[in-house]
Amino acid sequence: MRVLATRRSPGAAFDELDDVEVLPLAELRESRPDVEGLVVANEPVPLGLLPNLRVVANYGVGYDRVGLEACLERGVVVTNTPGVLDAATADLAFALLLATRRQVVEGDRFVRAGAWRGSWADSRTAEEVTGSTLGIVGLGRIGSAVARRARGFDLRVLYTQRTRVDTDLGEYRELDALLAEADLVTLHVPLTPETRGLIDARRLGLLRDGVCLVNTARGEIVDQEALVRELLSGRIRAGLDVFVGEPHVPPELFGVENVVLTPHLGSATRQAREAMTRLVVDNLLAVERGEPPLTPVSAG
Ligand code: 8YV
Repeated sequence: MRVLATRRSPGAAFDELDDVEVLPLAELRESRPDVEGLVVANEPVPLGLLPNLRVVANYGVGYDRVGLEACLERGVVVTNTPGVLDAATADLAFALLLATRRQVVEGDRFVRAGAWRGSWADSRTAEEVTGSTLGIVGLGRIGSAVARRARGFDLRVLYTQRTRVDTDLGEYRELDALLAEADLVTLHVPLTPETRGLIDARRLGLLRDGVCLVNTARGEIVDQEALVRELLSGRIRAGLDVFVGEPHVPPELFGVENVVLTPHLGSATRQAREAMTRLVVDNLLAVERGEPPLTPVSAG
């Protein structure tokens, strides 16, 4: 099966594809009837140029930009990489929670600027992480991994979720109640029509002063303009790994002290990326053999 991959992803598994061509989507301009498999990283699938496509293997768990419905309507199988990046993403969410709450990056900038003379000014003391209340929006695989890490920090965990689950990982709250009660909020829902703009200006207004909001999910889940306004006012703090229209980041944030910015690196560990490649390849090989894919994505 001829496979087109928009990038060469890390890991030896990639070499098990015996007929693969690496081609960024921007360079795909003509119809390619020879291509039966496509590897994308949450990019729109150009179905019109791939008339004989059988399978799209998404290198990532989120597939909001792939165009799932159109693929399924055409009978094209779509797969993703759930599970293998949970630890990496939960670790980064925790790193951003800690860095944001404890002013790690501000401290780093302070030292690099040569401003460290006496002690870190009393006015800059941070609120403690230990013992505070963590609100997890979306208690799926990644949200649950964050909740398990929270135990080691003696955090009180609240969670909200479309359907309430029976769990000892945290106490259930409606979203608005969670936002009004938490000291730390972390987002772990997929981007869907229901979650786009979920954390809008009104809901941002529910956050108490000094709350740290962490987003390692998708920028579009938050009203980014409203978030920028809140951050510029200094009322809340944030750790952001994802943005609307990446790699663009609102330049107004560059001079803001109360936000930590990272370039969508939630799954960017060697272990996670190699396991993602393994799963992408195993899904392609299964379809090639006429077997069910390991991790198919279904409609809805
Ligand atoms: C990216 C992600 O897909 O899995 C996801 O949903 O957002 C990431 O893992 C990855 O960075 C490749 O672009």
